[in-house]
Amino acid sequence: MMTMADRYLDDGYHDRERQRIFARTWQFFGLASDCVRPGDYVAADVCGMPVMVVRDRSGDLRGFHNVCPHRAGPLVGDDRGRCDKAIVCKVHGWRFDFTGDLLEAPDYAGVAGFAAADYGLYPVQVQTWREFIFVNLDPGAAPLAALLKPIDDRMAAPQARPARLQHCHPVDCNWKIHVENFLSSHSDALPGGPGGDGDILFSSPAVAGGEADSAWVFVWPNLKFSLYRGVLLIEHLQPMGVDRTGVHHVFLHAPEDPTVDAAIVASESATEKSAVFCEHVQKSLRGPAFHVGAAVRTHEAAVAWFQSRIDAALDG
Ligand code: FES
Repeated sequence: MMTMADRYLDDGYHDRERQRIFARTWQFFGLASDCVRPGDYVAADVCGMPVMVVRDRSGDLRGFHNVCPHRAGPLVGDDRGRCDKAIVCKVHGWRFDFTGDLLEAPDYAGVAGFAAADYGLYPVQVQTWREFIFVNLDPGAAPLAALLKPIDDRMAAPQARPARLQHCHPVDCNWKIHVENFLSSHSDALPGGPGGDGDILFSSPAVAGGEADSAWVFVWPNLKFSLYRGVLLIEHLQPMGVDRTGVHHVFLHAPEDPTVDAAIVASESATEKSAVFCEHVQKSLRGPAFHVGAAVRTHEAAVAWFQSRIDAALDG
């Protein structure tokens, strides 16, 4: 029988999350400003599934599995960069157009029965919202704009924040431990109540039609926006295994903002404390003292909402 601790320890449970949550939801994938010229790309894993997004010659963004249709080699190897004239597989050099069409397969020229049209790249959905790129591995997923409409309804597009600081903290815990930790400190973000809306939780003071000085938004299943002292922090949790999570941070701020250093230091300090706590929780899962953990459903409404969303997604 599956125990509460198994939700954070079991490889089979984690595989189901990959298939039923991460392969079906919109995932934050970076900044559109990283993909300006044709051939500019960003690449990352979505819960262990390699994905890339590239700007094509028409100016559109294209998303693909970062998996070659020949023998599953990597098409690009870095987090971001630029393909010169084509996407060239790193293993045997098959060349693909930025639209995903196979242009050339060395050693296969003239081979009977080989049709380049059968070997295009595997597409994924890519859409942008404000200045951010999102991908969805589900070709039938509802549009990103529908998911994020509640944010547009409540919060104006933020002022331009062109400067950025970006890094990743690996934390030895299951991704849900990390989510539940920050949801437990925002008990005002009641799902279905005045602060909650569908797949999104808001904390006060999220304001209608304007930009609050500080605000906090959680987007199901693994994305958080925080605004603090004029600095926008995007925190995106990428599962790297059942007990390891990449906590990706992007700080966006105005150039030469004198408050930015203090805001980032405060945020990093909170991140470190959170990591220590989450790693302790992960270790505790295997011991006899773990019974309910974060599942105090009658009191911590945001955590209960999240756990119910997990249950519904895995049952669906
Ligand atoms: S695996 Fe990509 S060309 Fe062979």
